[in-house]
Amino acid sequence: MKEPCTIVIFGAAGDLSRNKLLPALYHLEAAGRLPEETRIVASGRRPWPQQQWRQEARQAIVDKARGGLDETTFCRFIERSEYYRGDLGDTALYQGLAELLADRQRFSANIIFYMAVSPSAYGPIIEQLNRAGLLQEQDGWRRIVIEKPFGYDLQSATALQSQLNRFVDEEQVYRIDHYLGKGTVQNILVFRFGNVLMEPLWNRNYIDHVQITHTEPQGVGSRAGFYDGTGAVRDMIQSHLLQLLTFVAMEAPISMAAEALHDEKLKVLRSIRPLAMDELSRCAVRGRYASGTVEGRPAKGYLEEPGVPTDSRTETYAALKLFIDNWRWAGVPFYLRTGKRLAKKQSMVAICFKHPPQQFFRASHIKCEAANWLLMGIQPDECLRVEMTVKAPGLEMATRRTGLDASYRRTDEVANDAYEELLLDIMKGDRSLFLSYREVQSAWQVVDPVLQGWAAQKSEIPEYAAGSWGPAEADGLFDEKCRFWRNSLELLP
Ligand code: BG6
Repeated sequence: MKEPCTIVIFGAAGDLSRNKLLPALYHLEAAGRLPEETRIVASGRRPWPQQQWRQEARQAIVDKARGGLDETTFCRFIERSEYYRGDLGDTALYQGLAELLADRQRFSANIIFYMAVSPSAYGPIIEQLNRAGLLQEQDGWRRIVIEKPFGYDLQSATALQSQLNRFVDEEQVYRIDHYLGKGTVQNILVFRFGNVLMEPLWNRNYIDHVQITHTEPQGVGSRAGFYDGTGAVRDMIQSHLLQLLTFVAMEAPISMAAEALHDEKLKVLRSIRPLAMDELSRCAVRGRYASGTVEGRPAKGYLEEPGVPTDSRTETYAALKLFIDNWRWAGVPFYLRTGKRLAKKQSMVAICFKHPPQQFFRASHIKCEAANWLLMGIQPDECLRVEMTVKAPGLEMATRRTGLDASYRRTDEVANDAYEELLLDIMKGDRSLFLSYREVQSAWQVVDPVLQGWAAQKSEIPEYAAGSWGPAEADGLFDEKCRFWRNSLELLP
């Protein structure tokens, strides 16, 4: 049940709010999914009068509105929003908000506090909200939305969690990982658990290895301040890619309810074999982009980007080889990689099956039967494709590759943004697509040894040309000759 509520956005003038939250709320407005009394309080540091807020919000939405901005929808949307100026470190902001939100004629007693701010501000904001009495659930619920990364490592995540525990219950905390709001990611679960077809094959007996890739041509852009203190492992692997891994590897949950899903994902994370520090180079590769050409244009190297310290040791590329030590996956490597300024934008899961046990057609023109692949395109190409070997028509016994395609979306179907669904879930109180603290904790346990190992190394960070597929060292993660990075959803020759 979706009840009316007030959504307070801290950091309303920032990138996340402009690029994701405001457009998502506008689209929910357009779809008639916001209850009438729902209101939005956008809080930021800038001294904007309401009129300017309206213009800024309009600008943010106009760029993203599907099919162009609809004036009537925008008017309805902006009417339910208002700007509230304040400094995050200033007690007056929270006292002012408490007075404003106490007006039950205008604001619902149910409140969502969305932290669209730098992770270092989460703890102090919670303390201040508590001090202003804004977390008390006497007449309605209070929900806190926290973006990743939750902490900087296991130790800081534990400290942040203890801070949260003092003021709110776990059920009030929504740790967002926007990948779980993507339809194509949810489709992994539907494909696996809504069909019996794959289940007998979904294990170490038939699967050779799994690759989970996220690459993007963009560089660090205007986010150097955040990114340089974060890096590729914390930004993408600790959250998005490990979550994708849990969807691929988990057992069927007893239901799709939050706790059941969290339990199964947690079991996967806990079964990941700890990476041995003395063998780090065999299972983890990092890189940093140097100058190059991206999509036909010259691109600067990371160290030349505005805001990046010239002695930065932050990785903009990371690749890991992980093993899940459980009955289903023993011995099957999971390769994860991500990077900025790479050849193209692509998120995909590629599952490579084992070769047929016999080269059955050896005496014919066929030299080697290629392995089957199951490709799950997350974005921008959304697809589910099984790659198979079939006979090529003709008098000879020759083969070719073909794909069995189940496209995710018809061309006339809307592509929702992940934030739309996740915001709706927060309003409904459905935590299944949000991360439990125990998952976050286990994910840090997986990546912490890598981060610590790299921090201790004095050697140069391998560089890769902007626009390439990353450092050559990443190929060294494959021990078997026949394994290679799958860079495309196109059929293999
Ligand atoms: C964010 C990261 O969480 O995900 C960004 O902070 C990254 O650095 C982005 O670019 C990728 O998301 P998507 O949905 O574009 O794949």
